Amino acid sequence: MHDQLLIGGRLVSGDAEPDPVLDAASGKQLASIASASPAQVEAAVHAADSAFQSWARTAPKDRAALLLRIADHLESQAHDYARLESQNTGKPLAAALNDELPSIADVFRFFAGACRTPSGLATAEYLPGHTSMIRRDPVGVVASIAPWNYPLMMGAWKIAPAIAAGNTLVLKPSEHTPLTTLKLAAALAEILPAGVVNVVCGRGEPVGRTLTTHPLVRMVSLTGSVATGQKILAGAAGTLKRTHLELGGKAPVLVFDDVDVEALVSGIRTFGFYNAGQDCTAACRLYVGERIYERVVAELTDAVRTIKVGAQEESGVEMGPLISAAQRERVGAMVARAAASGHVELTTGGKARSGGGFFYEPTVVAGARQQDEIVQQEVFGPVVSVTPFRDVAQAIGWANDSEYGLASSVWTRDISRALEVAARLQYGVTWINTHFATVSEMPHGGFKRSGYGKDLSVYAFEDYTVTRHVMVKL
Ligand code: NAI
Repeated sequence: MHDQLLIGGRLVSGDAEPDPVLDAASGKQLASIASASPAQVEAAVHAADSAFQSWARTAPKDRAALLLRIADHLESQAHDYARLESQNTGKPLAAALNDELPSIADVFRFFAGACRTPSGLATAEYLPGHTSMIRRDPVGVVASIAPWNYPLMMGAWKIAPAIAAGNTLVLKPSEHTPLTTLKLAAALAEILPAGVVNVVCGRGEPVGRTLTTHPLVRMVSLTGSVATGQKILAGAAGTLKRTHLELGGKAPVLVFDDVDVEALVSGIRTFGFYNAGQDCTAACRLYVGERIYERVVAELTDAVRTIKVGAQEESGVEMGPLISAAQRERVGAMVARAAASGHVELTTGGKARSGGGFFYEPTVVAGARQQDEIVQQEVFGPVVSVTPFRDVAQAIGWANDSEYGLASSVWTRDISRALEVAARLQYGVTWINTHFATVSEMPHGGFKRSGYGKDLSVYAFEDYTVTRHVMVKL
């Protein structure tokens, strides 16, 4: 198992306290990973800074070639990566292998292409006698902080656009899930010039904070909680760093009376409970037209009862555990508070599973009201709330009445209504008659407290560049 940090092209052991890394499905320790000391964080930032001058000037086609090599490497070792990811997070091996690894490799392929076709305004004489042109240059050293729900995928979403654009990077994986990132780090030590990507491990405090407030860091990218986003923003203020934040969500799912109920139920069974609901786009907040509300609750409950919960490689397993005891406690406490309201019904689930690991049953909370915590706050667990609505205006009003603004979906056979509603939703993405799918070509990111950074697509590439104007007097 790879347990070394990557600093300036060298694989080194962390000099500070170790963090235990657990198998979330059994609760047993898989590894112990030593954190980076303050001196090692300093060394990693300096290595990235030293590498920047030459990396930024590498021809796009040469950067692209290296990104493609990373994609090839990930594909050639997809099984090993997927197994390691599922061992640590507890998620089904099949999900890591068949859903995540192909899309992770594709992210590197996409940005290999994107960096060769940057776009901007046409060069022209906007002032007579002067030629103006646009440059799109890298920002500098980027500090990237990744979460635990999709450890390698979030690492890829951060590394690929940053280095494709000519930046250099220091990445900190979550202390709960560093293993696949450390395996990738060992490969990057062979593929990339020294210092272009550095990987340091440790907790948010002190390693994340030391890294993200370092004066040589020009940009900080985070996928994580709102609270961490706020700390990062405060820390970035001193040196006015660019920030790129992706902070979770509470996706509304608007279900109109004419919906194909079977397709909806099958969709929510998948998109509400995938990755045990630990997904910032999870289809977790259903608003259902009054006429079909009872039917949807009944059929969804029956469907959710059939979700096969289990360990990584159990036959037919569909859902794994939560990441940690703390996360399970948090989810359980939110469901308990919802139940205590007296007006909701837990039609299925609502309990932790006994035995090892951090399992929590897939749960449906029917009859939730708009102001309930379970409707307003992110659960980040296998919990879907269902609320009946009266008319379109109420559905849209409730959907937008949220601190979050990342993902949403509209379910109806009436495409005009779907498009009208989509236009009025304040969310970074709206799916129609589906939910959840991402593609490398399209942006992922939100507004309000979901943050404002775009991952994937040319918009992410642009987020990692500075637009510059060069004017020549003729
Ligand atoms: P978190 O925000 O604490 O952790 C995410 C990453 O931020 C980790 O790498 C962590 O070490 C780092 N971090 C924490 N404090 C930091 C600081 N001061 N400076 C720099 N880096 C720091 O998330 P946590 O506590 O593990 O999860 C709590 C909740 O956050 C979840 O229940 C969920 O609601 C949300 N979350 C959202 C994610 C998303 O995909 N948007 C991913 C993970 C969590």
